[in-house]
Amino acid sequence: MRLLQLAVASAVAPALALATSSCSAPEPEPVNLLVRGSGGNKTTHMMYGIMHEDINNSGDGGIYAELIQNRAFQATEQYPVSLDSWLSVNGAKLAVKQLTKPLSAALPNSLNVVPGSGKKTGFANTGFWGMDVKVQKYTGSFYVKGAYSGQFTASLQSNLTGETFGSVDIKSRSVANEWVQHEFTLVPKKNAPNSNNTFAITFDTAGAKQGSLDFNLISLFPPTYKNRPNGLRVDLMEAIAELKPTFFRLPGGNMLEGLTTKTWWKWNETIGPLKDRPGMAGVWNYQVTTGLGLVEYMEWCDDLNMEPIVAVWDGLALDGNYISKEDLGPYIQSALDEIEFLTGSVETKWGKVRASLGHPKPWKVNYVEIGNEDWLAGRPTAYETYKQYRFKMFQDAFTKKYPHIQIIASPSVFDDMVIPVPAAGDYHPYLRPDEFVENFNKFDHLTKDNLTLIGEYAAVHPNGGIDWAGNLHPWPWWGGAVSEAIFLISAERNSDRVIGATYAPGLRNLNRWQWSITLMQHAADPALTTKSVSWHVSRLFSNHIIRETLPVSTDANFGPLYYVAGTSEKGTSIWKGAVYNSTEPVDVSLQFECHQKNDKATLTVLTGPTDPYGYNDPWTQVNVVKEKTTTIKADDKGKFSFSLPGLSVAVLETEGKAKCKGKRRIVADDEE
Ligand SMILES: *[C@@H]1O[C@H](CO)[C@@H](O)[C@H](O)[C@H]1NC(C)=O
Ligand SMILES: *[C@@H]1O[C@H](CO)[C@@H](O)[C@H](O)[C@H]1NC(C)=O
Ligand SMILES: *[C@@H]1O[C@H](CO)[C@@H](O)[C@H](O)[C@H]1NC(C)=O
Ligand SMILES: *[C@@H]1O[C@H](CO)[C@@H](O)[C@H](O)[C@H]1NC(C)=O
Ligand SMILES: *[C@@H]1O[C@H](CO)[C@@H](O)[C@H](O)[C@H]1NC(C)=O
Ligand SMILES: *[C@@H]1O[C@H](CO)[C@@H](O)[C@H](O)[C@H]1NC(C)=O
Ligand SMILES: *[C@@H]1O[C@H](CO)[C@@H](O)[C@H](O)[C@H]1NC(C)=O
Repeated sequence: MRLLQLAVASAVAPALALATSSCSAPEPEPVNLLVRGSGGNKTTHMMYGIMHEDINNSGDGGIYAELIQNRAFQATEQYPVSLDSWLSVNGAKLAVKQLTKPLSAALPNSLNVVPGSGKKTGFANTGFWGMDVKVQKYTGSFYVKGAYSGQFTASLQSNLTGETFGSVDIKSRSVANEWVQHEFTLVPKKNAPNSNNTFAITFDTAGAKQGSLDFNLISLFPPTYKNRPNGLRVDLMEAIAELKPTFFRLPGGNMLEGLTTKTWWKWNETIGPLKDRPGMAGVWNYQVTTGLGLVEYMEWCDDLNMEPIVAVWDGLALDGNYISKEDLGPYIQSALDEIEFLTGSVETKWGKVRASLGHPKPWKVNYVEIGNEDWLAGRPTAYETYKQYRFKMFQDAFTKKYPHIQIIASPSVFDDMVIPVPAAGDYHPYLRPDEFVENFNKFDHLTKDNLTLIGEYAAVHPNGGIDWAGNLHPWPWWGGAVSEAIFLISAERNSDRVIGATYAPGLRNLNRWQWSITLMQHAADPALTTKSVSWHVSRLFSNHIIRETLPVSTDANFGPLYYVAGTSEKGTSIWKGAVYNSTEPVDVSLQFECHQKNDKATLTVLTGPTDPYGYNDPWTQVNVVKEKTTTIKADDKGKFSFSLPGLSVAVLETEGKAKCKGKRRIVADDEE
């Protein structure tokens, strides 16, 4: 056998570093692969998606570009009001108050500011662990109540040196007993050297006639992706756009469920003007603004041309409580209303509401998921109710009103639920590298009635002793990313029955997170934005979508080389491969029945660092993933020959289209 499986001494090594081949070893024989011209299957063509940052992040301090933390003093039973992130400027006395005349029913709390002794006083916000200040246009707004004549000054300054980078005066229109919105733009005169900055609003002590002023909904946005008001962070969106995702599972996982059956993600409370959004008790130990709400998720789909997979609340909360059969009706109605809000004509009740929010044109929704992970938080009792009636009641209601929608159950066929056809399931493997590789044939056993979405996946623990209950690995690592590639290949080989796959979670704020393994990491300073090793693997595969799989003939077994082949939308041929656990490079000889000698192909190979635990470190910004792209030419026998190192991931795509004209162009070696 040309390939050496090396025994690993350390129990935790996921795979091995690239080995140097010794001179005495016999020249390894190539793996011969022949991609057939027909006999494959049309794929769902969605394959590579994204999901919301989900675990332990709600968008606040993440992809949602708002710079002000605790901007509206939102609170719930779980998270009481606080002055978190607010500082007094020049001795002002700050207090959160519930006034008899609040800004809105949704935002009952506000900031009361008693001026200090200085000429100018006010307050400052420290942002989400700082703020990025550059010479660019910031768009801000705040509401004030109280008689004040004079100017407000909005400014951005260093929290370390006090240096002001930019400020703007805003003439007061503030009056007693009314909430008056003040809007402004601010372009700093210079870039701040770091992100330890604050945003302040100050006013003339003398001008505050009633002694104090009340403020609420204090907001500041940098430029956003595609300049959307209330939009998303540019650098993170650009990094996601590079993945060319085809679908988006929204609004996330745990966040949909909520902590209790009273505090689930109520879609209807995430729409409309920000002053009418109460926020919610987040499931990750903090209050969530819901500034990133249902409409913003759909605009995100529009901006990246993604198909939405809309998850609706199905009566289960993370504490394991659930809604009984008798009480489920209104929640099913709420889910149907949500789809009417998104897709109904302007004549419908909820379609009209959507139009009033600036979106007269209905969106298209072809996929709806009923709940999130009912097999997990719901076990044992609530999961039984999902299998017995909750899923079915939702499925029946949707089938009746929206028969074209593909319904997805929150468990998969691998979570001991028989999923009623034609619904699909949702599989969430968070595994060790070896487990991904050992399960390579898992999807081969799916029948056409076992449609499966992979709504979340990631390699989270190294091989060996550490169990699921233990700590996650601190970062996505190269050996793990290669195993993810093999997992994706195993799914893509069956992409007529696997709807698509999305890595999860997407983003981790380096200052507040509960889940270390994420596709990207970030902080206030965009220089810290990091594309993980897994991002690089995802991007390579998702930029080459297979529309029709094709059978591959070979006399070699899978392992250490794993692969899938097919044709693209354009008609070119695509081959994806990955090598795991091999000390030797694997030589590949790849023929396509529908290509011929001198045909050209682009081969992209990703390799990692010598240490399979190497990762992309936000603090050093060293990318350990090496990408090499070459153009190769088929030889006289129509063979593309190349070598893949141990722990590598590759894609070959032909320059020209597969052309058979009903006849094979290539004759396999064993048939000569
Ligand atoms: C990788 O190699 C190690 C050591 O031989 C072995 O324990 C492990 O099962 C291998 N993994 C796979 C998926 O082949
Ligand atoms: C800014 O300074 C204040 C007071 O010195 C401190 O409490 C706060 O953590 C600082 N914020 C940041 C983002 O450094
Ligand atoms: C500045 O902010 C960064 C990032 O939040 C932090 O790591 C650093 O400690 C801060 N520096 C000071 C002097 O506060
Ligand atoms: C973060 O999310 C994980 C996975 O859902 C959950 O187990 C954990 O409790 C969360 N952590 C916190 C602090 O909320
Ligand atoms: C949102 O919908 C839920 C479920 O129908 C309902 O309980 C709640 O009162 C609604 N919120 C508002 C503000 O109407
Ligand atoms: C998978 O599909 C088959 C029909 O082809 C069905 O009998 C089986 O119950 C499905 N499995 C699950 C777990 O739903
Ligand atoms: C296409 O689907 C059929 C039926 O499920 C299966 O037998 C065949 O292996 C599939 N072809 C490929 C290339 O996956």
